[in-house]
Amino acid sequence: MLPALPFRLTLNRFRGRAGRPVLDPAGFAEAKAAITAWPGYAPTPLHDLPGLAAGLGVAALRWKDEGGRFGLGSFKALGGAYAVARHLRQTLAAEGVDATDADLAAGHFADRTRSVTVACATDGNHGRAVAWGAQRFHCRAVVFVHATVSAGRAEAIARFGAEVRRAGATYDDAVRLCAETAAREGWTVISDTSWPGYEEIPRAVMQGYRLMAAEAFAQWRGDPPTHVFIQAGVGGAAAAVAAQAAATFGERGPRVIVVEPMAFDGIARSLAAGRAVPSPPGPDTLMAGLACAEPSPLALEELLLRAEAALGVPEEAVAPAMRLLARGVRGDPPVVAGESAVAGLIGLALARANRGAAMALGLGPGSRVLLFGTEGATDPDLYARLVACPEAVA
Ligand SMILES: Cc1ncc(COP(=O)(O)O)c(C=O)c1O
Repeated sequence: MLPALPFRLTLNRFRGRAGRPVLDPAGFAEAKAAITAWPGYAPTPLHDLPGLAAGLGVAALRWKDEGGRFGLGSFKALGGAYAVARHLRQTLAAEGVDATDADLAAGHFADRTRSVTVACATDGNHGRAVAWGAQRFHCRAVVFVHATVSAGRAEAIARFGAEVRRAGATYDDAVRLCAETAAREGWTVISDTSWPGYEEIPRAVMQGYRLMAAEAFAQWRGDPPTHVFIQAGVGGAAAAVAAQAAATFGERGPRVIVVEPMAFDGIARSLAAGRAVPSPPGPDTLMAGLACAEPSPLALEELLLRAEAALGVPEEAVAPAMRLLARGVRGDPPVVAGESAVAGLIGLALARANRGAAMALGLGPGSRVLLFGTEGATDPDLYARLVACPEAVA
């Protein structure tokens, strides 16, 4: 199905012995109640891909397709926009005003919320989510993008009314510059990654992401999934999926395998060390949403406790995986998946085809696998070039 390319498997020998739960049930209940009440909310589809499953040698393969989430192209609205609304509600509560997200969206308190500025760093999708949330709930947003974020992604953020600032050479630089500027200006950082002393907002972001996994598990029919492959940048999405799998299935839940670009394998390094370790500077990745060297320490707690393993996957597999999905295998419906969405599929395909990795992960003909298509064509030009002619972008 995909060329036999090198990959890196790191088993988590700390699973069940280190880390801690950081995503409490009450926080998820709050996020779910808020987001499901937003106008336009609908669960994204879970596609059954039996042709691809047969081609890869597993019993079932299902694809949670986030391309249509709130018209933003990725799952990220569930986190960034939710955290914006929550922050505005809390700001008003501190002034003695009890507001709902519906009140905020209707602009009932816009005279107060317009003086609030939220800020974030992004490689594209999180910034779009925060900008959308700020527009929808009536506050100001400033979004920091590093040098290699494409003009198309930056423009998509600006279209939601945010001020976009170029800052730093990497995502991790932009995170620091955003935090420094926000501290100076009195803005609130809505970050998808945490750092010492800054946890409440990234925790809320992850609680929002859990809705994606909760929907997928509710949509799943038949025997439950045995494996989940979920791609990671800072690890927030993976931590949310792992927490929701544990909340839904308990001890007998699916094995959760975190997939990263080989060049940005901070989660693998951290699972090996039992503590947050960044990936060293190296080449960039096509998987823009996953180009994060430093894991979120908060997400890592959940992943140390629950993740089965981390897989580092090669760049060369990205375009072939996107094309495989775009064409549909043996009658499967075609699926539009962006560069960062296919990492999980690549990890599954490479691990399944490798005897040692398949054995280590318990992957075989009876496996039922859930993949998260975390974005659609969020950079349409790049998508078109990669799917039609990957060499053009090599
Ligand atoms: C499409 C996509 N998938 C996955 C991720 C990874 O999420 P996290 O950074 O929470 O690990 C991102 C992050 O931006 C993303 O944009």
